[in-house]
Amino acid sequence: KRKMSIADFKDYKKRGQKFAYVTAYDYTMASIVNESDCEVILVGDSLAMVMLGRKTTVGITLDDMIHHIKPVVLGAPNTFVVGDMPFGSYNISAEQAIASANRILMETNCDCVKLEGGVEYKDTIAAMVKAGIPVMGHIGLTPQTATSLGGFRVQGGTPESAKKLIEDAKALEAAGAFSIVVECVPSVVAAALSKAVEIPILGIGAGPDVDCQVLVTQDMLDMYGDFKPKFVKHFAHIRKAMVDGLNAFHEETVSGVFPSEEYSFNKNVDIPRLY
Ligand code: KIV
Ligand code: NA
Repeated sequence: KRKMSIADFKDYKKRGQKFAYVTAYDYTMASIVNESDCEVILVGDSLAMVMLGRKTTVGITLDDMIHHIKPVVLGAPNTFVVGDMPFGSYNISAEQAIASANRILMETNCDCVKLEGGVEYKDTIAAMVKAGIPVMGHIGLTPQTATSLGGFRVQGGTPESAKKLIEDAKALEAAGAFSIVVECVPSVVAAALSKAVEIPILGIGAGPDVDCQVLVTQDMLDMYGDFKPKFVKHFAHIRKAMVDGLNAFHEETVSGVFPSEEYSFNKNVDIPRLY
C-alpha cells in the first residue's frame, strides 16, 4: 500500500475516488489499520473518551496527544497519519497554534494536524499554512466546543446554519486547508459543502455524498461499549470476540486445559531437593 500524499487528497476528489479514514491511538491498532486498505488514520482527541474513559475531549493535553501520535506513526508507515490538536492548543493566537503544530509535526513525524473551527479560525489556519504546516479543518459538530453548540447533536439543520457551514468550508479552503472533516450534518448539507469547495469533505455522520467516510475504529468494529451514535455502523463485532477469547482463557485456566505441552517448556531438568 502506498501512502497518500497531500496532493492526492484533491486528486482523489477530482477523480471521484472515495477513500476511508479511521482512528488509531496506539501501535497495535495503527499496524492493523496499516495492513488494511484504509488510506488515512486520525489520532483523534476522541482518545480522551475512547481510550482514557473521560466524559469529553476537553482536558486532554498536547503532551497526551503527542504521546499517542508517536506510536501510531511508527505502526503505520504506509498510511497518512493526522495528528489532532487538542482544545487549548490553538485558541489563544496564531503563534500558539503554530508552536503547538510544530511540536506535533516535529516530535511525532505525522503528516498533518487537524483543528476544529470555521470562519473564526481562518486567520489562524492561514498563518499556519504560511508557516508550512499542512492543516485539515473540522466543522459541523465540533466536540471540543459541543457545550456551546448545545451538546452532541446534528448541525446545519436550518438554512442559516447551513449557510454558515458553507461559509466555514470556503473560508477554510481559502486559508489553505487541504481537506475538511464535516461531522454530524444532514446529508443534503454535506453534499452542498462538497460541491462548494475543491478540497475533499471528509464526512462523519454526513451522509453518502461526500468525498471520504470517517469513523472511529473502536466504534465501527464494535469495541467501544458505552454508546453508539446513529451514524456508526458495526462492520465487525470485536468486543464480543475479545470477551469470548478472554472467557475461553478463563475456562481453560480453571479447568487446567491450558497450558498443554504445546505451550510449555518440556526440557527435563533434575530438580535439586531444596524443599
Ligand atoms: O477525535 C476524533 O476522533 C475526531 C473525529 C470524530 C473526526 O475528531
Ligand atoms: Na477530534
